[in-house]
Amino acid sequence: MAKEVKNVEYGLEKIFEGAQDFLPLMGTDYVEFYVGNAKQAAHYYKTAFGYQSLAYAGLETGVKDRVSYVIKQDKIRLVLTTPLNSNSPINDHLRKHGDGVKVVALWVEDARKSFEETVKRGAKPFMEPTVEKDEHGEVVRSGIYTYGETVHIFVERKNYNGTFLPGYKEWKSDYNPTPVGLKYVDHMVGNVGWGEMNQWVKWYEDVMGFVNFLSFDDKQIHTEYSALMSKVMSNGNGRIKFPINEPAKGKKKSQIEEYLDFYESPGVQHIAVATDDILKTVTELRARGVEFLSAPPHAYYEEIPARLGVHMEMMKEDLKEIEKLAIMVDADEEGYLLQIFTKPVEDRPTLFYEIIQRMGAKGFGAGNFKALFESIEREQEKRGTL
Ligand code: FE2
Repeated sequence: MAKEVKNVEYGLEKIFEGAQDFLPLMGTDYVEFYVGNAKQAAHYYKTAFGYQSLAYAGLETGVKDRVSYVIKQDKIRLVLTTPLNSNSPINDHLRKHGDGVKVVALWVEDARKSFEETVKRGAKPFMEPTVEKDEHGEVVRSGIYTYGETVHIFVERKNYNGTFLPGYKEWKSDYNPTPVGLKYVDHMVGNVGWGEMNQWVKWYEDVMGFVNFLSFDDKQIHTEYSALMSKVMSNGNGRIKFPINEPAKGKKKSQIEEYLDFYESPGVQHIAVATDDILKTVTELRARGVEFLSAPPHAYYEEIPARLGVHMEMMKEDLKEIEKLAIMVDADEEGYLLQIFTKPVEDRPTLFYEIIQRMGAKGFGAGNFKALFESIEREQEKRGTL
C-alpha cells in the first residue's frame, strides 16, 4: 500500500508515493443530488444540517427543464436538482435510484486536460469540456462516469468570481438557520457490486492516478451476521478520499447488499463531513431532528481508554458526553478520531452521512466497524432486510 511522502510540486501539503497527480485535484467542488423535490430538500438541509442558501437556477433564471438549489456550509457545497417535466432524463435516474448523488464534482486547474487525461486512460465520457460564461467570468467543466450512474465533473473556475456557476443567480433567503459547524467533505464512500471492488480500485488507479492507501477485508469487517470489504483510494495530495465497498458473504444480508437492492445499482453510500467540535455539532443536529444510528453498548465506552492507549491523555472530550450523544471513538498511530453516522436521509435505505472529527488520526474508524455494523443491522432487522 502507498506510503505518504513529502512533495511540494503542486504547492500542496503531501503526496502519496505512487500516485500520479496528473490532474491534479484541488478539492471537492460540489456534490449534486437528483431529488424528487429540490425545494423541500433544500429546506431540510438548511433546517436540519445548518446549510446556507447560496445560488439558484430554474424558471426565473431562464432554465426550463429543471430547478437547482445550491446550499453551502464552510467549504461544502451541495446542489439539489429536480426535473420540471416528464421529458427530462433526470426522471429516469430518480425512478431507478430514488434521491441520491449524481455528481461528485472535483475542483481542477484545467478541466480540458482532466477530461483528455482520464478519457485517454479509459474513462467513459459524460460531458465534453464545456465553457460557461456570464458577467463574472467563465467556468470550464467536463465529466466522466464512475461506478453505477454516478459521474465526476471536473470544474475549472480560475477565471470566475461569481456566486457558484454561470446560469445561477445568488439565492437570498429570509430563512437562515445557523450553521452547525460542518467544514468540508472528508471522504465519500461508494458501494459497488459483488466482486467489483478491485476493478474500481484499478479504475481509480489507472484513470485518476489515485493510490490504494488502506484496505479492509471481510475478516476485519464483519459481525456475527454480515460482512463487507473496503479499500480506500486517495488522490496524491490526500484531499480526495474515496473508500470503495463491496458486499461479502455472511449468514445474513449485509448493508451493502441492502443498499444495492434499493439504489438498484452501485452508488454513493455515505458522505463524511468534518467538524472541529463534534460534541457541539451533534448536539445541534439532534436538536434539529437529524436521526443517528443507535449507540453502541455501554461496554464499548468502557473499553475506550484501553483502545486509545497513549492518545487517551490528549483527549479533551468528556467520555460521558460522548456516550450520551452516541459518538464513537477510534485511534491509530497518529491520533484519534470521533465519528457518528446518521440513518439514511431519504425513504430508501441508501445514502447517509457521517460526522467526523479528526484529532490526528488518518483512518476511517476501523475499530468501530463492528459496533457500527451491529447498529446498522438493528435498523435492517426493523426493515426486514437483514
Ligand atoms: Fe466513512
